Amino acid sequence: MLSIERTLLRLVMAALLIGAVSVSGTVYFATLEEFNEALDAELKHVATSLARYRDLSDASSAQRPAGTGRVAEPELEDSEIETFTRDAAGKLLYASDEKVRMPFIDSEGLTRVSVGGESWIVYTARHRVGYAQAAQRVDSRRAIARESATRILPPMLLLAMGIGGLLIYGLRLGLRPLDAAARDVAGRSARSLAPIDCTRLPAEITPMVQAINGLMARLDDSMTAQRRFLADAAHELRSPITALRLQLQLLDRSSDGAANAAARADLQQGVDRAQRLVEQLLQVARTEPEAQIAPMLPLDLGSIVREVVEAASAKAEAWQLDLGATLAEEVPVLGDRSQLLILLNNLVENALRHTPSGGVIDVGAEMRDGRPVLFVLDTGPGIPKAERERVFDRFYRGGQPARSGRAALGSGLGLAIVKAIAGQHGAVVELLDRVGEPGLEVRVSFPRR
Ligand SMILES: Nc1ncnc2c1ncn2[C@@H]1O[C@H](COP(=O)(O)OP(=O)(O)OP(=O)(O)O)[C@@H](O)[C@H]1O
Ligand SMILES: [Mg+2]
Repeated sequence: MLSIERTLLRLVMAALLIGAVSVSGTVYFATLEEFNEALDAELKHVATSLARYRDLSDASSAQRPAGTGRVAEPELEDSEIETFTRDAAGKLLYASDEKVRMPFIDSEGLTRVSVGGESWIVYTARHRVGYAQAAQRVDSRRAIARESATRILPPMLLLAMGIGGLLIYGLRLGLRPLDAAARDVAGRSARSLAPIDCTRLPAEITPMVQAINGLMARLDDSMTAQRRFLADAAHELRSPITALRLQLQLLDRSSDGAANAAARADLQQGVDRAQRLVEQLLQVARTEPEAQIAPMLPLDLGSIVREVVEAASAKAEAWQLDLGATLAEEVPVLGDRSQLLILLNNLVENALRHTPSGGVIDVGAEMRDGRPVLFVLDTGPGIPKAERERVFDRFYRGGQPARSGRAALGSGLGLAIVKAIAGQHGAVVELLDRVGEPGLEVRVSFPRR
């Protein structure tokens, strides 16, 4: 799992390590350079001092023991300077360290020589009767530089550890409110979708928590809608079942043939109504936004119109309505055939139910301004403007007093289903006044191809 703490710590530690190495590297080379200059001067000083001392001692002819040559050396313990004196022929008179076989160099000044595999820097000074040499191992200079460079490392490491510790502390402190938020969410019941408190969260995390809160709010809305739908559906189912029970009792009590037939017809109607309600409920469930949508295929809206009008013609005849189809041209759309049949069937069913006997219903498909359009025209009472939004709500039934017996059959789901199916097809449903005559025009406009 990705850990911000570990990632950050690794990055910072790597940066500090690189920093420490480069700082001590810089210190090493800078020290070496500074020391080179200072120590070269030192060598020269020692060699010339020694040469002058030899001069003086020769002038006074005093015989001094070889070991006292060291007296002329400046105190330089770390720099480990070895001194040598020679006669005019280059023969070694004195060596501060006899193990070092320093070669004779007859020119004055600084030279780099290799003695026994080691690199040395030598300053040779000339005096009247011979030479004085001051020499130093190059390695010992490097050791000094190395020492200064490594002295930097412990404080740098300490700094790195301090920064790392502070980093972890800061991070944990910053993320602590998240633990509280997690505990809050974990301790909730499955139904609680109240927003998570953002006030004490770090700014970096707030947008994510706000997004989750937004999602929970939408989830809450949809759960509320589902609960309401379930309650409404149960309520709606109860009335036809109560009616069925009553009608059964009437049938039982009806003694003569005519009353029996009437009760039987009533019962049949009650069963039809209950069946339609269940079918509409199932259809609503199928048009839920989360429901799987079948693939959209090219089809002709005209064929949908023909099929629906044909299926409804018997009912139209029974209710003395003139149901006809207007089909001019081919009207191609991309759609789900079975869903579009349900859509149009609901519109035609509404027209049939709400148009008084003797009325005319015209169903058709056409291209209008480059858009495929389905329309249903009737000569019924229409829908008052004030209700035109609400009739799309689930279970909403119009309240006009002119509801005839067949209009009372509805459960108020038809137009909700129409709207949902139209939505799946990117189509728009409009409820319009007829021009010049009473009645309703329902128009479903599909997107341009
Ligand atoms: N063609 C129409 N003419 C007049 N009123 C209509 C027409 N179509 C729909 N309505 C009004 O809109 C309301 C809602 O219609 P909808 O199709 O949603 O429900 P329903 O027809 O009552 O029931 P369902 O279709 O579920 O059986 C209807 O109750 C009715 O008042
Ligand atoms: Mg309807």
